[in-house]
Amino acid sequence: MTAPVDPTSTSAWAELEAHRASFSPDLRGWFAADPDRAERLSLPLADLHVDLSKNLVTDDILASLVRLAEQTGVAERFAAMLEGTHINTTENRAVLHTALRRPAGATPALAVDGQDVDADVHAVLDKVSAFAERVRGGDWRGVTGKRVTHVVNIGIGGSDLGPVMVYEALKPYADAGIEARFISNIDPTDLAQKVADLDAETTLFIVASKTFTTLETLTNARLARDWLWSQLAGKGAIADDDAARTDAVAHHFVAVSTALDKVADFGIDPENAFGFWDWVGGRYSVDSAIGTSLAIVLGPAVFRELLEGFHAVDEHVRTTPLTRNVPVLMGLLNVWYTNFLGAQSHAVLPYAQQLHRFAAYLQQLTMESNGKSVRWDGTPVTTDTGEVFWGEPGTNGQHAFYQLIHQGTRLIPADFIAFANPAYPLQDGGRDVHGLFLANFLAQTKALAFGKTADEVEAEGTTGPLVAARTFAGNRPTTSIFAPALTPAVLGQLIALYEHIVFTQGVVWGINSFDQWGVELGKQLALQIAPAIEGDKAALEAQDPSTKALLAYYRAHR
Ligand code: F6P
Repeated sequence: MTAPVDPTSTSAWAELEAHRASFSPDLRGWFAADPDRAERLSLPLADLHVDLSKNLVTDDILASLVRLAEQTGVAERFAAMLEGTHINTTENRAVLHTALRRPAGATPALAVDGQDVDADVHAVLDKVSAFAERVRGGDWRGVTGKRVTHVVNIGIGGSDLGPVMVYEALKPYADAGIEARFISNIDPTDLAQKVADLDAETTLFIVASKTFTTLETLTNARLARDWLWSQLAGKGAIADDDAARTDAVAHHFVAVSTALDKVADFGIDPENAFGFWDWVGGRYSVDSAIGTSLAIVLGPAVFRELLEGFHAVDEHVRTTPLTRNVPVLMGLLNVWYTNFLGAQSHAVLPYAQQLHRFAAYLQQLTMESNGKSVRWDGTPVTTDTGEVFWGEPGTNGQHAFYQLIHQGTRLIPADFIAFANPAYPLQDGGRDVHGLFLANFLAQTKALAFGKTADEVEAEGTTGPLVAARTFAGNRPTTSIFAPALTPAVLGQLIALYEHIVFTQGVVWGINSFDQWGVELGKQLALQIAPAIEGDKAALEAQDPSTKALLAYYRAHR
């Protein structure tokens, strides 16, 4: 195992400390002094145009950040990941989500731990595509012979957030008359409401779980199976016996998992299961068979276009020098804000309603990856790590929390994401509504960067204490990510961009961005507390006083 470099021991870190000591951000001044700043700091990333110019960095700071990447081995670590080194040290696994989007026939072929990775990836992709075509074309039918109209993905975390987000983003591409729904929460409300108006005869469930042990998913899968049986038997569509129930499951349940034996135990024919591998982290799995619901609803061609988008960014990361490597630079900017300017959170603000689940998706990607206090060799981290990622689509956010970003006391770096062309080009009285929408994106990034001085406020006729209230300090950092349109390829590029930003930060901090031990304790305790909820005295007695009191409240109110 390569030992992590302590970033605070590098000369680049010392340079950055020195920059911070004399730091006086002045975006107005920097733009005035350097008319080329916008052009110089705007970089292409496949179809994306990424404008870094409104970030709180000078060329010297950027150069020190790039040196930090060099001195902590970012490029070497990327290379190690891409070639299948076991960089997920705590689970002794390779990290190969990038292999999921390598084109067929890519050279040199990727073989890792004796596995022909390319062949396996494409075999599953072909199997998913063929299955998707059967469902889309009406070749795959429910137990009573009806076509599938609804696909319900049952999964949680990485087995849910990616598919939901992509489905919402690419809904305009859903062309087969099949709707997708997603059940994740073990709160029975989720399932009850999502199936309430469905017809069991035309519903296909996909149980998506990397491990096929996740309590929420398996519980929901069983509830869904019961619902299917009772609905079908209730209307006399199947007989009320085991053979009919088995047949119904065969027609209405498929699975996605790395644990195909457990899929079989659940009663799903392994023929109707789509595999992936332990080297795909859950939050990095939307481009694996976990995307089966997407391949069905959007079509295999759209799914493959999404993968091409991911791959274009992988290639950018692999081949572009650090000084122009967009994901690396964005990761380094996050390090600058987190470790030198005290930022604790990072907003992601898409000016696209279709991306309304993007921040939720990124929350798992970023925070499950980089919310760590120990490094990949088990030693404590030497700096603050993972920021809180959050966001909402503009302009909704403008009318909610932007106040704090503009005038609050905290530094909140923000990524703005926008598209030149809308999915729905509607006009309001002859006026292009999308243009108005984008004017807001441009206005917000401008206001955040350049603010409004007291003199400017007074020049508009404001006097007295109101002047301070109406003044905007500016120097609030933003990155603008612009693309021609939200196509499948562009969406793949956006996701891969953030995957690699996360990785860059993780390498600088010396952490393993691919395990998630922090979710285990709560899972374990839930299993211990469940009997207490059901009234088991010994389990109740074993609890701490606060938990006991809460259990008493629960029992008193049932
Ligand atoms: O929340 C923990 C976690 O393990 C995530 O990393 C994962 O995406 C999710 O649970 C679901 O796991 P699985 O796909 O194995 O059901």
